[in-house]
Amino acid sequence: MTRPFVVDIHTHVYPPSYMEMLRARKTVPYIHDPKDNGTPRLIILSSDDDPAIPIDERGRPVDSSYSDTNVKLDFMQNHGINCSVISLANPWLDFLSPEEAHTWAKRINDDLNSTCMNINQDADPDSKLPLREKRTLFAFGALPLSAPTPDIIVEEIYRLSSLSHIRGVIMGTSGLGSGLDDPKLDPVWEALEKSQQLLFLHPHYGLPDEAFGGPETTARYGHVLPLALGFPLETTIAVTRMLLSRVFDRFPRLRILLAHSGGTIPFLAGRIESCIAHERKFKENGGDVPGPQRSIWEVLKTNIYLDAVVYGKAGLQAAISAGSTDRLLFGTDHPFFPPLDGQDEKWLSVITNYTAIDEALKEDQASVAAMLGENAVRILDLK
Ligand code: URA
Ligand code: ZN
Repeated sequence: MTRPFVVDIHTHVYPPSYMEMLRARKTVPYIHDPKDNGTPRLIILSSDDDPAIPIDERGRPVDSSYSDTNVKLDFMQNHGINCSVISLANPWLDFLSPEEAHTWAKRINDDLNSTCMNINQDADPDSKLPLREKRTLFAFGALPLSAPTPDIIVEEIYRLSSLSHIRGVIMGTSGLGSGLDDPKLDPVWEALEKSQQLLFLHPHYGLPDEAFGGPETTARYGHVLPLALGFPLETTIAVTRMLLSRVFDRFPRLRILLAHSGGTIPFLAGRIESCIAHERKFKENGGDVPGPQRSIWEVLKTNIYLDAVVYGKAGLQAAISAGSTDRLLFGTDHPFFPPLDGQDEKWLSVITNYTAIDEALKEDQASVAAMLGENAVRILDLK
């Protein structure tokens, strides 16, 4: 049996220029270099920046795997990944001032595009490189969401369509600052729909620290609560707000890839739909408006794609049932969730996702191949 072609659509980078920008900052997000030349620390979540934690221990270690493409290629080699669609990691460009947002977006997007182009030239079948180095890269671009007006975001979306290795955009849930049900985002949805670029929606902000018991629980349990629960709920809330504000009614051809198998959307879709059916009032600008016209089930089958980064059979089965095997795409979340001892060649987080796919689709090798790579090649046109 030939091994399926594997595409990782959920894999992040912080390009070197972005790392330098974070190094120059003193508020979240920032990079701190310990005085003893220890591994730099990335202080990325609001809960990381707790003054009670010594600065050298805040956040998480950030090594070359975050910015060095060769480390990514080795990781791909070690985990049987043929092609990766890289994306800037959270919090993207969300925190930039309006004046600098567009310049940074263009810089990062051009950088991602040329990184992919250079790697793919080396991976040309006629090149003399050994087989292990023939790995290909594509990328999702980043948007200048804090730009002074949405036209600038729209302009960047259309510019991205002209870059050879960009296959969509990655975005967080804050939108222009008021969430994804903000009507001011309509030009952005329209541009994404018209250009048919896939929107990769990814969490960053989680839930307020109080939802987890405040700083004391962060000190006790580290990132477990924000990452395991805060991230998926953030995605769930963001997409539900899009649905409730009728984004999918106005933009029925919008294509959106949800991180972490949709947060909890596949599991809660029935409850969301039922609550909508039992709600008497939908208000906008002080007047009555209709609720969403298209059901969440329809949106899941036509607008939404889900990654398979859910680390368990039960979650994956819910995603398959709510979406379908031809709308799910393999991912790793590299370089996040490395082995704690830093020694293992094969990462537990990646093995767990491969295993969940095997367990959920044991008898159906065609669907395994679809989910591991064929879907991504088709949906993202990875030629
Ligand atoms: N933690 C993050 O901050 N981002 C990810 O994508 C995964 C884990
Ligand atoms: Zn991620």
